[in-house]
Amino acid sequence: MLIAGNWKMHKGPAEAGAFCRALREADLGTVDVVVCPPDVSLGAAVQALAGTEIGVAAQNVHWAAEGPFTGEVSAPMLRELGVYGTIVGHSERRQHFGETDETVALRLAAALEHGLQVIACVGETEAEREAGETQAVLARQVGAIAAAIGDTDGLVLAYEPVWAIGTGRTATPAIAQEAHAFVKTILDVPVLYGGSVKPENAGELAAEQDVDGALVGGASLDLSSFAAICRAASPSSRS
Ligand code: 13P
Repeated sequence: MLIAGNWKMHKGPAEAGAFCRALREADLGTVDVVVCPPDVSLGAAVQALAGTEIGVAAQNVHWAAEGPFTGEVSAPMLRELGVYGTIVGHSERRQHFGETDETVALRLAAALEHGLQVIACVGETEAEREAGETQAVLARQVGAIAAAIGDTDGLVLAYEPVWAIGTGRTATPAIAQEAHAFVKTILDVPVLYGGSVKPENAGELAAEQDVDGALVGGASLDLSSFAAICRAASPSSRS
């Protein structure tokens, strides 16, 4: 069970360092824990979490090792900083920054090649779900990821229905389970659920057979709610 906190564009270096120092002392149950700060705060997080089992991952990565790509950061640069992994293909990148299945595939392949763990995000919009296209969208997105990789070592998927992100509208455990099971028919890797995960719903989501963890946005910014999610999702605390 993996619980990853996607901080999005929150917490500069000072705040990230303080949060991570407090995270070291928190009761996080028995799950694996990863935090994903913005690039400028990765170094502070790595430093604050040194010597712990808590991983630090970036929110995106470029496919080239270096080059004329203003505003981008490469996998070797992240590795040099002590970062262990990265998110790719988040729906906010797809919606607001022109990310496509093709660019997600390039980023993912380069990240894995350079030894980063990857959380690759997929998920349908509300309009796609209402049009009955959920499985077609997931098949396209996951298919593009599957086609880009040699083997699945180091890869985790995150099913994040766009209508559940930042809306307070969490997918029901049954909806998450159905999507995760479908995704695994295409690519058999662990699948995290993301979209309005909170301490109150983390346990029931984590109890589903094909839910292997959570990618938490808003609720990961607050230490007590993030720690409560980790504890709720811990196998020992679920019946
Ligand atoms: P929220 O938990 O804020 O809905 O965000 C989910 C998400 O996008 C995690 O990557």
